[in-house]
Amino acid sequence: MRYFFLAYAIIAVLIVGIGGFRGQKFSKPPIQIFPDMDNQDKLKAQSPDPFFADRLGSRHPVKETQPRGFSEAGQREIGGIPEYEFGGQTGYYYTGHVGDYYGTGMPEELELTGETAEALIHRGEERFGIYCSVCHGKSGDGMGITSKYGVPGIANFHLDPYKTGAYPDGRMFEVITNGKGQMSGYAANIPIRDRWAIIAYVRTLQTAKAAATAAK
Ligand code: HEC
Repeated sequence: MRYFFLAYAIIAVLIVGIGGFRGQKFSKPPIQIFPDMDNQDKLKAQSPDPFFADRLGSRHPVKETQPRGFSEAGQREIGGIPEYEFGGQTGYYYTGHVGDYYGTGMPEELELTGETAEALIHRGEERFGIYCSVCHGKSGDGMGITSKYGVPGIANFHLDPYKTGAYPDGRMFEVITNGKGQMSGYAANIPIRDRWAIIAYVRTLQTAKAAATAAK
């Protein structure tokens, strides 16, 4: 019976303690156990800001300036900072798909000529070096530095099914965009034109390797 009263008293205190003060207003700030991000010095989207005379929280861009990455002039330039396209467009250039299938070949939107094709491959070489070679290796053989630290199953572009022809460019575009298995997607990091540049460079690596092997 002693224990019953003890338990009864503890439970009663708990219920009053937890439930009794709900809905009440306090003049002191609440006790925060993990206060890290509760109070932030920020404005919610669309809310007014008394700091500015016009009280507009969402500011207009400064006159005569252009947001980075949206330069009209830069759009066709290979090697410049390309524009970051918004998602949701359809068509081969934006998705790598033609209807329900993967397409192959460089899309018309790149408007490639002999000269710009070379620039595109150079751009691809640079971007491949930055984004892909850590895993896939400088030569595309899947022996990048991370493979030595245990990332398993990195694709070797010189083996089937990745060799030219067997593996559509559109699928490579899809893998760069959305990733596959252990490889994460690069949609947020690599603009669309750069993805095509990387594909063009991977094709160059494959052709170079195949030619070297055939010459032996
Ligand atoms: C963090 C390591 C890593 C990086 C960086 C990386 N990959 Fe991969 N990639 C992988 C792994 C692992 C696989 C095997 C995925 C699987 O089959 O599950 C793979 C698979 C692939 C494949 C074959 C997918 C298929 O259809 O089977 C392609 C093509 C590819 N990567 C291209 C790229 C390109 C281009 C880049 C640079 C933009 C890149 N990867 C960056 C790890 C990486």
